[in-house]
Amino acid sequence: MALPEEFLEELRANNDITSVISSYVNLKKRGRNYVGKCPFHNDSTPSFTVYPDTESFYCFGCAAGGDVITFIMRSEQLVYIDAVKYLAQRAGMQMPENNYDDSFSKLRMRILEANREAAKFYHSQFFSEAGFQGLSYLRTRRLSDQTINKFGLGFAPDSWTALTDHLLNKRFTRYELLQANLSVESKKGTLIDRFRNRVMFPIIDLKGNVVAFGGRIMTDEKPKYLNTSDTPVFKKGEGLFAFNIAKNSKSDKFILCEGYMDVIALHQAGFDFAVAALGTALTSNQARMLKKYKETVVLCYDSDNAGQLATQRAINILRKENVNVKVLQIPEGKDPDEYIKRNGADGALKFKLLLDSIESDIDYKLEQLETQYDITDTDGKVRFLTQAARMLSEIKNDIERNVYASKLCEKYKVSLNDFELQLAKFVRSNNYRSSQDEFKRVKKQLTEKPHVSADDKGVKKATRAIRAEEALISYLMSNPDMVHSVYEKVPPEKISSEFNRRVYTALTQRLLSGRSAGFIDFSGEFTEEENAYIAAVFAKFNNELNVPQACSEYISVILEENEKQTAAQLAEKSPEEIQKYFDDMMKAKKK
Ligand code: GTP
Ligand code: MN
Repeated sequence: MALPEEFLEELRANNDITSVISSYVNLKKRGRNYVGKCPFHNDSTPSFTVYPDTESFYCFGCAAGGDVITFIMRSEQLVYIDAVKYLAQRAGMQMPENNYDDSFSKLRMRILEANREAAKFYHSQFFSEAGFQGLSYLRTRRLSDQTINKFGLGFAPDSWTALTDHLLNKRFTRYELLQANLSVESKKGTLIDRFRNRVMFPIIDLKGNVVAFGGRIMTDEKPKYLNTSDTPVFKKGEGLFAFNIAKNSKSDKFILCEGYMDVIALHQAGFDFAVAALGTALTSNQARMLKKYKETVVLCYDSDNAGQLATQRAINILRKENVNVKVLQIPEGKDPDEYIKRNGADGALKFKLLLDSIESDIDYKLEQLETQYDITDTDGKVRFLTQAARMLSEIKNDIERNVYASKLCEKYKVSLNDFELQLAKFVRSNNYRSSQDEFKRVKKQLTEKPHVSADDKGVKKATRAIRAEEALISYLMSNPDMVHSVYEKVPPEKISSEFNRRVYTALTQRLLSGRSAGFIDFSGEFTEEENAYIAAVFAKFNNELNVPQACSEYISVILEENEKQTAAQLAEKSPEEIQKYFDDMMKAKKK
């Protein structure tokens, strides 16, 4: 059941949107509204606006928008009902009793409670006979008791039902244990422990919740590590091991390594900014998490082939999120854990020296590339430099690209001029390729769900047409000189959405009479809400694509959809009306 309307009204009234958002975003007053840097994307200019009048917010950079509840859902990563509870608590309000559906959020809470109880249980095993071998294992891996406690490590005993029994006794249900992935069903249909005879690493989120576990077997058996599968509180590829600690570190960077043991060994050696992606390749989601707290990520994967491959992949993902990437290569040996251990008392110091001497990822990539060619041979050197130019062409910043180009030319004693010519060629072809990619993206976007403007609310409109109309409006705003040819092909009556038609009419009238028309110029003609919507449309499509090719695509979609609509309307008319329609059309043609 939904929450009562009066309750929600009171909730909104008691949680003034400006003051709620103020504790997340540094807001400055601008006119009736407030602006600040958007908390939902990497915002360099203040593109985030709070509208106290409509109790809403909108970001012109990433199109995030909504009311105070939406804001809390996104900021605190909560589902709707939990965001409501959060705000109710903030305002000292009582939640209405049990007449709303919060079964999912209750389940999540139960899973977190079960996980916490399980972590306590696993840890307590160290002090029993059954679990002592787990403790000894970690000690042979040189973990101090202090480290073991700090990370809440534990041991899953070699038993089929030890944890399951314990949790059932604590009144967790069969369903909850299965959903938490702490227990699994045996062939006979009984519950058995998911983790058996393994040392256990709890994974803790930013709120201090135990969201999942990793468990390592103590022999050479496979699988070496077993992780919690996806549950309502944990998804593979989300979350990072030790992120809760590392994000508070004084360091201005993160070290990203492959394994739990690497992270723990590094923290023990004083590098409290180490984290790991959990048994998966790094995801963009995780890259964004990192970027939110620190600018630089030092990759420190295993030095074996798999590790180097993973390094290349991670570099690409991190660079896409504009993270400053460095690569630390562990000499002689496998991973950071082993490196520190092997160097005994000097381990921490030697790792610190490595950390201080790291190269940027470009240098690393170039070095890797060089090993693939025989550069003592002229042909090999040419091929290497060609590939190097291709690689450098991916750097978006011109200055940065040129710095690397001249460094490279100096190192390999070749003419900078020739190299730059080649480089420029690649840059041009990349630009062309990315404009082609953008074009495909826009085409795809045209088929997705559009914003629904105030006037169109509740009216079912051809989604595809509305998209194209918005894109065309945005296109015209940045390409006013195209207005004549566009207007000729698309007279306002072909625009399907009433609101878009108003905007399109106002825009083309202005442009046709030689006036300018940025969205700010509309202020007189449209309400504030409508203006925000126009700005959103503009913001959304502005960065998309501005080539004539895209414009023709928008136009053909609009005309095509318009024809479909006319045909559909015609089908509902009486024969007399249809006859009249054709007569009118013939008359119009003769004119
Ligand atoms: P130790 O051998 O204990 O030092 O582990 P490690 O951290 O050196 O592990 P390794 O380099 O073999 O693997 C790195 C990470 O990949 C681990 O921390 C796990 O998260 C993951 N991983 C390794 N083996 C497995 C496996 O068999 N299954 C799964 N799901 N993940 C694994
Ligand atoms: Mn290892």
